[in-house]
Amino acid sequence: MCPKFFADSILRRGESSPTPMRDRTDFGYEQVEVGDKARRVRRVFDSVAGKYDLMNDLMSAGFHRLWKRFTVEATRTRPGMRVLDLAGGTGDLALLFAECVGRDGEVVLTDINGTMLAAGRDRLINAGRLVPVVQCDAEKLPFPDAHFDRVSIAFGLRNVTNKERALGEMCRVLEPGGIAAVLEFSRIWAPLAPAYDWYSFNVLPRLGRVVANDEASYRYLAESIRMHPDQETLAAMMERAGFDRVELFNLAAGAVALHLGYHY
Ligand SMILES: C[S@@+](CC[C@H](N)C(=O)[O-])C[C@H]1O[C@@H](n2cnc3c(N)ncnc32)[C@H](O)[C@@H]1O
Repeated sequence: MCPKFFADSILRRGESSPTPMRDRTDFGYEQVEVGDKARRVRRVFDSVAGKYDLMNDLMSAGFHRLWKRFTVEATRTRPGMRVLDLAGGTGDLALLFAECVGRDGEVVLTDINGTMLAAGRDRLINAGRLVPVVQCDAEKLPFPDAHFDRVSIAFGLRNVTNKERALGEMCRVLEPGGIAAVLEFSRIWAPLAPAYDWYSFNVLPRLGRVVANDEASYRYLAESIRMHPDQETLAAMMERAGFDRVELFNLAAGAVALHLGYHY
């Protein structure tokens, strides 16, 4: 199930992200008012929504599909389960979960951004899956406690202003025995960092300009990856948010990491 290069456990220890100043937070390398980040993030995804899937394929050479498939398999999602996908965007992870839970299960697709969510809803309908679609902030979920068997967030947590609050919400809506999956960019194995930095700050923005006519959003992507907590820091945040155990899988030499949070 898990090819070696997906599961290599490469971790840079002892690093942590800078603590944001009071009432300020990061938007890429910029410090902005806490209340302003969500508006800026919305502008990014309003702008890239139309080319989002194509850009994902180009930037990752299609690997994001494998990382998402690995995520669904690692959560051991079974027919009949209830799954909540946060920051679900164009819906590809939700669709994989929908295939797993079958007709007796349920997947709820959510995102804060209506443009991304509309693309996700259309993808699921085109695939023959009618799922509930809810526009909501991952920090304030409109769902009762202990309602879902699985909760996921893929490449979304980085964009959330108060990550601790979102993690706490994920834990709250999980049933005892449930699993949360956080798939996100993370800290790459140190020897590869220079090449990865060169790719991120030279190739990505140019690709964004040529394909999506938006260089700034892809510069934000590169910067926001560097500002996101590394593997160990995120695992500690998940434990503080209430998860009883956290399991880590480094994918692509740590460029991407899957954290599974178990709620007993
Ligand atoms: C990089 S996309 C990821 C989409 C999809 N999960 C995927 O893996 O391709 C990030 C998504 O996070 C959403 N997002 C950003 N902040 C959010 C928040 N506070 N609550 C919910 N969704 C949020 C954005 O609207 C965007 O659709």
